[in-house]
Amino acid sequence: MIGVKTLDDAEVRGKRVLVRVDLNVPTENGRVTDRTRIERVLPTIRQIADKGGRVILLAHFGRPKGGRSEKDSLKPIATAVAEELGRPVGFAEDCVGEPAEKAVSAMKDGDVLLLENTRFHPGEEKNDPAFAKQLASLGDLYVNDAFSAAHRAHASTEGIARLLPSYAGRTMEAELAALSKGLEKPQHPVVAVVGGAKVSTKIDLLENLVAKVDALVIGGGMANTFLHAIDIGVGKSLAEKELAPTAQRILDRAKETGCAIILPVDAVVASEFKAGAPNHAYGIDAIPSNGMILDVGSQSVDRINAAIDDARTLVWNGPLGAFEIAPFDQGTVAAARHAAERTKAGKLVSVAGGGDTVAALNHAGVADKFSYVSTAGGAFLEWLEGKALPGVEALKTKG
Ligand code: 3PG
Ligand code: MG
Repeated sequence: MIGVKTLDDAEVRGKRVLVRVDLNVPTENGRVTDRTRIERVLPTIRQIADKGGRVILLAHFGRPKGGRSEKDSLKPIATAVAEELGRPVGFAEDCVGEPAEKAVSAMKDGDVLLLENTRFHPGEEKNDPAFAKQLASLGDLYVNDAFSAAHRAHASTEGIARLLPSYAGRTMEAELAALSKGLEKPQHPVVAVVGGAKVSTKIDLLENLVAKVDALVIGGGMANTFLHAIDIGVGKSLAEKELAPTAQRILDRAKETGCAIILPVDAVVASEFKAGAPNHAYGIDAIPSNGMILDVGSQSVDRINAAIDDARTLVWNGPLGAFEIAPFDQGTVAAARHAAERTKAGKLVSVAGGGDTVAALNHAGVADKFSYVSTAGGAFLEWLEGKALPGVEALKTKG
């Protein structure tokens, strides 16, 4: 169904299995503050280890730009992985060369080893074939379980997959299946909810969506740019006014493809961007000239929820308002909860992703009630843009 080989196809007993995972988790003072990505890769690690494979984890951390730095070491993450896994996890001080070779050759069937940050070598981000070869020499098979890094054509995500028999791990598999249900082969009608601050970061995404979905809800700061483009005054609100022609082009395209565009019809306005700032709701054609739109209003939420009711599939990226400061989280929370209810009732397949989106859904208390929530940021966006992801493509051509 997803067009790549999976762990079901892999014979791992006694084999050295290089498993690319995404352990790029948020930390504070060396402590992991959100373990979601670690939790997501446990099934793949366990299944390979339980079948007698030797699990060699490859991962990046931060953006050290090809040099070593203590703050970007994966060493503390090995401890967190071991805790979550409930088994020991070895650590090698380098991902290639003697430290890696020694650690790998000391492994027994069922052992788990994490190699130091692949980005400590410039060859990683350059996708240098010689570096990919060094990595590949440590294993017999390659498993990619890092969908969230699959938009990067790096040695550990792309180059290596061309050198070894390659498979998708369980999280990669789940992610590809969910995304296929969300946009590639969805049940129509499909509604997309796109929010967040800026149009400029999501132009490709909006253009792809208007060609594919039946209705597109635009919220967050980016909606202001669209409102401005259709001559609605947005006061002091965040808006990329220079992108009005782009917004207009997207609106025109939507008309051609028959995609309904759902813009706010009312908004919650304050005079400053601050938690608890005094605020008032206005109809969208009556935004005060000194006001700042910080959330969609209740009539807009009703319209969004009605669009969700009409849909069988929902794809969500980006919050509808300034959800990180109360009370401007209310529009996002209300629509997210409505989508969760429809999902629970079996009426809707709901797929969401992107860093802020996951935070917003967690804040609304519904992240586990969506059909699928992707932990991917950039990779989820590029997928929504209809782009091929190098890490996924490489799995397709070799197995
Ligand atoms: C992420 O955190 O989104 C992925 O791990 C990719 O990281 P990057 O944006 O530094 O490539
Ligand atoms: Mg990132």
